[in-house]
Amino acid sequence: MTKGHPLNIIKKQIENYFNDVWGKKHGAKMSIFDDLSPVMNTYKAFDELLIPLDHPGRQPTDTYYLSQEQQILLRPHTSAHQNEILREGITSFLCTGDVYRRDSIDATHFPIFHQMEGVHVFPKEALPGVEEKDTLLVVEDMKMALEGLAKHLFGDVKFRWNSEYFPFTDPSYELEIFFREQWLEVLGCGAIHQQILKNTNLSPRRGWAFGLGLERLAMILFSIPDIRLFWSGDQRFLSQFSSPSPSTPLPKFKPYSKHEICTKDISFWLPPSFHDHAFFDVVRDVAGDLVENVTLIDSFKDVSSGRESKCFRVSYRSMDRNLTNKEIVPIQEQVRARCESELGLKLR
Ligand code: DAH
Repeated sequence: MTKGHPLNIIKKQIENYFNDVWGKKHGAKMSIFDDLSPVMNTYKAFDELLIPLDHPGRQPTDTYYLSQEQQILLRPHTSAHQNEILREGITSFLCTGDVYRRDSIDATHFPIFHQMEGVHVFPKEALPGVEEKDTLLVVEDMKMALEGLAKHLFGDVKFRWNSEYFPFTDPSYELEIFFREQWLEVLGCGAIHQQILKNTNLSPRRGWAFGLGLERLAMILFSIPDIRLFWSGDQRFLSQFSSPSPSTPLPKFKPYSKHEICTKDISFWLPPSFHDHAFFDVVRDVAGDLVENVTLIDSFKDVSSGRESKCFRVSYRSMDRNLTNKEIVPIQEQVRARCESELGLKLR
């Protein structure tokens, strides 16, 4: 992540908060990790985090496996590094990295994005050692730390804590802030599951963890309308973000002219047990970041045969130039061909 890039600005602001504001008050320092390999096995990505075998995140429709046997994969979240770092005896850290997930295609989703994980385990003597009391104190401390972070990034905003479920924290929460007239989810967090602390030889110590998406935060903070812009080398984008000091307000992104949109519809009969992500994947693979959005515009079931049909609208738009129909026709042709040959879809 290069200096002056909006993702790097947010990353640095979070690191500054934990090491200069929160850290000074707590006499703690968070170690920084940002070059750990995104290639890992399922043990590290899921098992060690107590993620059950039937969790949807393990499915190849969600996750990029690199091996046929589905044991090696691209990091689906930065939580995957919690265990290894804790096992090294490092108990306060921030870990940032690129993460990979198959998803829908729209302005807020891209198959690669960046997450940051924060972990803080208390020294043994910091808590009374009574389970319920300890959990309460851990959660209270975590909420203070993360509300401080939200204020550091967003100014004086209102908060809302929602109960959530993550397999690796108990209890788990999601923090929402009220920003520019709407409630927005900014991170997931919780008290680290005691089994993880046992497995990393830290029990009976206790701690908290959180995870957040950097693109999501940057889109909110800078009012960036499309996630593909983070991959742009266009100076009209990059030159807008000078590294501000924590006390100056962050610049708001000024959109430059939007280029022409070009839409193409595609309809097909589905084979049994089909997942939309497989179709989105083909579109991404062929069109890369020229595709802005894919929406389902129609679906129906043929009663006599039981077959299901779907029609998707694929919207193509470049972030930095006008696309011509001549350029898009062969792309759409390729999408259609691969839908037939790879996915077994019957085009209508
Ligand atoms: N790994 C979660 C995700 O990708 C985010 C997360 C939630 C991380 C709770 C945490 C946590 O450390 O405690 O959605």
